[in-house]
Amino acid sequence: MAYTPVAYPDDKPAFYQVLREQLALHLADAPTAVTALANASAVLSDALGDCNWIGFYLVRGDRLVLGPFQGKPAVMEIPYARGVCGAAWQQKATQVVRDVHAFAGHIACDCASASELAVPLFAADGRALGILDCDSPLPARFDEKDAAEMDAIAADLASRIANLA
Ligand code: SME
Repeated sequence: MAYTPVAYPDDKPAFYQVLREQLALHLADAPTAVTALANASAVLSDALGDCNWIGFYLVRGDRLVLGPFQGKPAVMEIPYARGVCGAAWQQKATQVVRDVHAFAGHIACDCASASELAVPLFAADGRALGILDCDSPLPARFDEKDAAEMDAIAADLASRIANLA
């Protein structure tokens, strides 16, 4: 299927509605979790403006390992509870970081990053699956409304990949 460029609305609720539709379209029948998250990173990167890194870290034992992403090469492993991503996993809660330089323990991957959103992916049975991580070169790129919308997207992604190899 050829990718058709999408016009995303400026209005935030409408934007996220179109984004969810695009994710559903491009993740339908994904054969593996990596396949689904690869297309998810591409769709998210295409949609979200002012982001320099968007992708996934996957839970493997007591650490996160780098998964599909769009952006510059990044740290490959993050121990439990470390950095913004580790905090999202440990606290089971989305981290909205308006200034990464003010976040104690922030792990710098791309020195252009100024703000960050890290959203945990949990299966319905409570298993931690991974983290959706978005970095922006703009301060305070993400707000609580973005966090709520991305929470819903992460829940959908988690249910899609929970039973895939
Ligand atoms: N900043 C993240 C590390 C991952 S990179 O941003 C891609 C963190 O502190 O966990």
